[in-house]
Amino acid sequence: MATPVVETEVVRVRVAGKVNLALRSGPRRPDGYHTLSTVFQAVSLFDEVEASWADPGEVSVTVLGDQAHLVPVGEENIAVKAARLLAATAGADRPLGASLVIRKAIPVTGGMAGGSADAAGALLACAVLWDLDISPDELRDLGAQLGADVPFCLAGGTALGTGRGDQLAPVLSRGSYHWVLAFSDGELSTPAVFGKFDELGLGNDHPEVPAEILNALVSGDAPALGRCLTNDLQAAALELRPQLGQLLDAGNELGAVGAIVSGSGPTIAFLAANESAAVDLSVKLSSEGMCRSVKRVTGPVPGARLVV
Ligand code: C5P
Repeated sequence: MATPVVETEVVRVRVAGKVNLALRSGPRRPDGYHTLSTVFQAVSLFDEVEASWADPGEVSVTVLGDQAHLVPVGEENIAVKAARLLAATAGADRPLGASLVIRKAIPVTGGMAGGSADAAGALLACAVLWDLDISPDELRDLGAQLGADVPFCLAGGTALGTGRGDQLAPVLSRGSYHWVLAFSDGELSTPAVFGKFDELGLGNDHPEVPAEILNALVSGDAPALGRCLTNDLQAAALELRPQLGQLLDAGNELGAVGAIVSGSGPTIAFLAANESAAVDLSVKLSSEGMCRSVKRVTGPVPGARLVV
């Protein structure tokens, strides 16, 4: 990768969260993962990852934001793991260190790939800080070692994910979609939701996203997209958190053209017909008091990018 020369000693990267417009899953595989067919869309809810030099071999992280207390800050932090993996792989000839600061806006364990976004942000920020000669493909391969959603968080936009969700192909998408996100209190762990999915025997031997999703995206037709949003994990998430069903119903009654649990939840993504409908829906949903907070976003947006 041609890394830009950065004059300052701090490198800042902005990285978006995602919603899955369609998520079809096979049964659990021997490696514990599930074969997926999913359409990701990156949306305008961004974490920021800042990297600056630290003593050789030292990698630390500070997390800022309302939910910072929910994020581990030791070696188990996925951004720390990302920096260490990058240093071990691409910087073997010299000891490298980084001090990371993450400003979190993507909900923690919310089904929007917040941790994966931070890993993607740390990979890019450290690659630039350390002036490494690494290609986007190599960065993506490192990302896939860190988590199934990390390659998409690097890429952004709209993409079809297969394999564990880490094999990406671009998807043609016209226009911009207006979403209202409803954040719930408490987390839903992805392994727990997949566990419930297994228990309910919901795995499909040939998971494939519906063609209607791809057609709706090409035509830029929000109501058509809203009608075919689909998530195989939704039943499992609702089983674990039944009150999400009432939130989905409320959004539908208040005029959303589509409503879906985002990934493994508990965030719910409501699709609005246009910007003014999204404003209207977000105001009404907020006043219902059924969730922690509500946020309007648009998608698709790019993946991990330097902030200059
Ligand atoms: O890859 P990542 O660490 O983000 O995945 C978190 C968890 O989600 C995995 O440990 C696994 O339980 C589940 N998962 C899965 N199949 C996938 C992706 C994630 O079972 N394709």
